[in-house]
Amino acid sequence: MRRDHKWRCGLPPVINKLNMAFALRFMLFLSSLLLHLLLLSSLFDAKQYSFRPKALVLPVSKDASTLQYLTSIKQRTPLVSVNVVIDLGGQSLWVDCQKVYHSSSYRPARCHSSQCSLAKSSGCSDCHYARRPGCNNNTCGVIIDNTVAIYVTDGMIGDDVVSIQSTDGSNPGRIVTVSHFLFNCGRTFFLEGLARGAKGMAGLGRTGVSLPSQFAAAFSLPKKFAICLSSSTLSNGVLFFGDGPYKFLPAVDVSTILIYTKLFINPFSTATAHPFGVASTEYFIGVKSIKVNDKAVSLNTSLLSISSSTGYGGTKISTVNPYTMMETSIYKAVTQAFIKAAASRNITRVGAVSPFGVCFSSKNVGSTRVGPAVPWIDLVLESESLYWRIFGANSMVEVSNDVVCLGFLDGGSNPMTSIVIGGYQVENNLLQFDLAKSKLGFSSSLLFRQTTCANFNFTSTA
Ligand SMILES: *[C@@H]1O[C@H](CO)[C@@H](O)[C@H](O)[C@H]1NC(C)=O
Ligand SMILES: *[C@@H]1O[C@H](CO)[C@@H](O)[C@H](O)[C@H]1NC(C)=O
Ligand SMILES: *[C@@H]1O[C@H](CO)[C@@H](O)[C@H](O)[C@H]1NC(C)=O
Ligand SMILES: *[C@@H]1O[C@H](CO)[C@@H](O)[C@H](O)[C@H]1NC(C)=O
Repeated sequence: MRRDHKWRCGLPPVINKLNMAFALRFMLFLSSLLLHLLLLSSLFDAKQYSFRPKALVLPVSKDASTLQYLTSIKQRTPLVSVNVVIDLGGQSLWVDCQKVYHSSSYRPARCHSSQCSLAKSSGCSDCHYARRPGCNNNTCGVIIDNTVAIYVTDGMIGDDVVSIQSTDGSNPGRIVTVSHFLFNCGRTFFLEGLARGAKGMAGLGRTGVSLPSQFAAAFSLPKKFAICLSSSTLSNGVLFFGDGPYKFLPAVDVSTILIYTKLFINPFSTATAHPFGVASTEYFIGVKSIKVNDKAVSLNTSLLSISSSTGYGGTKISTVNPYTMMETSIYKAVTQAFIKAAASRNITRVGAVSPFGVCFSSKNVGSTRVGPAVPWIDLVLESESLYWRIFGANSMVEVSNDVVCLGFLDGGSNPMTSIVIGGYQVENNLLQFDLAKSKLGFSSSLLFRQTTCANFNFTSTA
């Protein structure tokens, strides 16, 4: 469409040779075409739409001391990189605005504005301290959830510029900008529990203001995102917004090998504080049974589904839990089955090493492409033939040279969610969340494909 603009500069000379009536009609047609083009270009912000990205990409690092996964977002004017902890089910982007927030493009969300309703504002307020981002009069506020420290506080809604690299699925490309990216301003004390250097959290949950929703809206991307966490604290994993391809070196397009399962919505919020009657923004999957080495573990299956009257039960995926947590009776049944299956391979149990409850001598544990040779664990989904298989690389944690532990933790006897699949269990597995179709695509271990989540080529081609 841009290309046609050169027609504005003058009519092609060929018109002089045509008869008048035809020329007139042609000119009428041309002027209506021009009018359309003018109208269209005034509707769109030319700067943003002259290049439309197919997808966007962010690097994801793993913090060695907290085991949190972080990304770096370029925000404000002038742009600065802000490190934030990734919260898969989180509601929005929130950052500390109290300590250092300098930006000429920050705008507080005015009370009763459309931004306030999109961000599900909790109310309106004034601020009686010195005016700064996060402290303005007539601004709407919101509850911010620090899902690591598990507590909540109030914050102010605002927007600012966010820049991000586009991608063709193979490399990062041109940088694109969202001029008014909505986020929440919190205070410095609220960073408690977050990795060193983190200035907030990036929510990827099921809301209108999460990163996937805002990026999809800004660039008309499909409402999909994919996350691939690296197991290494030295090399980055990757987060994609939009559809595949998702290419990893040497030449694996992971979007072509995904297995799909339904995503469920818990009608009851799982957030620390929330208004009554609000659904959870987290991602739930329908685990129907669990098998160890192909043998079903006997479980209280009512714990596996989400109760329609309380929202208790079910299985969700979380990036703020470093390891999978299971409700006590499930934890006991699965670990007993695992211990038994390990014993039949002559793998000897040794004393527990905190935080893990079940550890083994690594003496008789062989090694395979997909990690230590231990019994595999299947999370069985819609049908017996649809399962998420967890191999040694995602089940065993090496705590010393001669001890490996099962990377599952006892989640207590009455947790709201029975199984919380943690970060360790999804490392080197690509997960694609399709919000429009409410389905999860998962790759299973990329180690099988001789690649890893750290193999995205971050060399920019822009
Ligand atoms: C908000 O309004 C009050 C009353 O007019 C004023 O005292 C205060 O300084 C204002 N606060 C900000 C942050 O502008
Ligand atoms: C199974 O779990 C449900 C939900 O927590 C509980 O009400 C029920 O008593 C449990 N059944 C058994 C046999 O433990
Ligand atoms: C386990 O050890 C026993 C006794 O040493 C041996 O007979 C058996 O073959 C071993 N089994 C495996 C699976 O290695
Ligand atoms: C990564 O991408 C760059 C830019 O396309 C390319 O030059 C380079 O060879 C790629 N690296 C590998 C290891 O393929």
